[in-house]
Amino acid sequence: MKAVVVGGGVIGLGIAWRAASRGLAVTVVDPEPGRGASGVAAGMLAPVTEVHYGEEALLALNLESARRYPNFVAELEDASRMVVGYRASGTVSVARDADDLAALEELVGYQRGLGLEVERLRSRELRRLEPGLAPGVRGGAMVAGDHQVDPRRLVAALLAACRRLGVVLRRERAGSIDRRSVVLEAGGVEDGDVVVVAAGAWSGVLAGLPAEAVPPVRPVKGQILRLRGAGAPPLARNMRGAEVYLVPRSDGEVVVGATVEERGFDTAVTAGAVHELLRAAIELVPDVAELALVETAASLRPGSPDNAPLLGATGVEGVVLATGHFRNGILLAPVTADAVAELLATGEAPPEITAFSPRRFQRVLS
Ligand code: GLY
Repeated sequence: MKAVVVGGGVIGLGIAWRAASRGLAVTVVDPEPGRGASGVAAGMLAPVTEVHYGEEALLALNLESARRYPNFVAELEDASRMVVGYRASGTVSVARDADDLAALEELVGYQRGLGLEVERLRSRELRRLEPGLAPGVRGGAMVAGDHQVDPRRLVAALLAACRRLGVVLRRERAGSIDRRSVVLEAGGVEDGDVVVVAAGAWSGVLAGLPAEAVPPVRPVKGQILRLRGAGAPPLARNMRGAEVYLVPRSDGEVVVGATVEERGFDTAVTAGAVHELLRAAIELVPDVAELALVETAASLRPGSPDNAPLLGATGVEGVVLATGHFRNGILLAPVTADAVAELLATGEAPPEITAFSPRRFQRVLS
């Protein structure tokens, strides 16, 4: 059994690694593995902090993937002999004014109603946890179970682990899909028994897919910043405000994200977005202004009509989808990798992904 995976982000590489571990022959086709959304993402693993009203099925999948993260990381670090920057540091949400506080109280009520663990914090308690916070903050909440990983390290480790298992990496652009094969743009064909479409925001525009297998995925632009100082970051854990989130790393990096923009395949970094992200971040943590701005970037999330991923078989034999992860690609890597590898190895989709079958959009597609 041979799988050809189109896309070398954390989703495609995770599937390749897990599928190869189960004895499948795997080829990954990507001109620049890890250079799409995976290489830009902040890596916040925050299913509880980022829960959205009405998305309870997605929440269950997100929680399941968060639960798998420690083992996934331990196995990956062992297999790759690399570290991926997984930090079980928790996440705080911060309200700067009365409107933020009202919204946060609503959210905490919703989270508690779902049985999720979240601690409401008064301003003084919050500033004791995070002394770098601006003095005027009105209060907040702490989710001790929402963590982080470094997506760039994750990609590097997945590539190393794949290499060790004999996964073939074709650093070429997929031109089109032809049944169970991938025709490469520069010429040549990669034949397989099954093609896994894990091409993120580009999954919906791959040539050659029959209409019933084309995922309804669209690009959703995110602009994001990376900053760095001489010492430790001015915050200890992930922080979410109403307009911005900050992710501090052990190596001193602070990631500030992110815009959410419907602009097609545009990846320009704009002065306005950089300005707004920095303004919001500095309002929350004033010492962010002292850090060096070392990188600005924009990338494209694969958005789907219900914000949930498309995982599993399509109406077309030999074509499996693993795309549409929208804002949860890094978080959903472990459960996606395990579940799609199981589907490839056994022909059966495990129960945790049945609600996310691409066939839920079949009527829309046909
Ligand atoms: N999950 C963070 C983002 O999409 O910006």
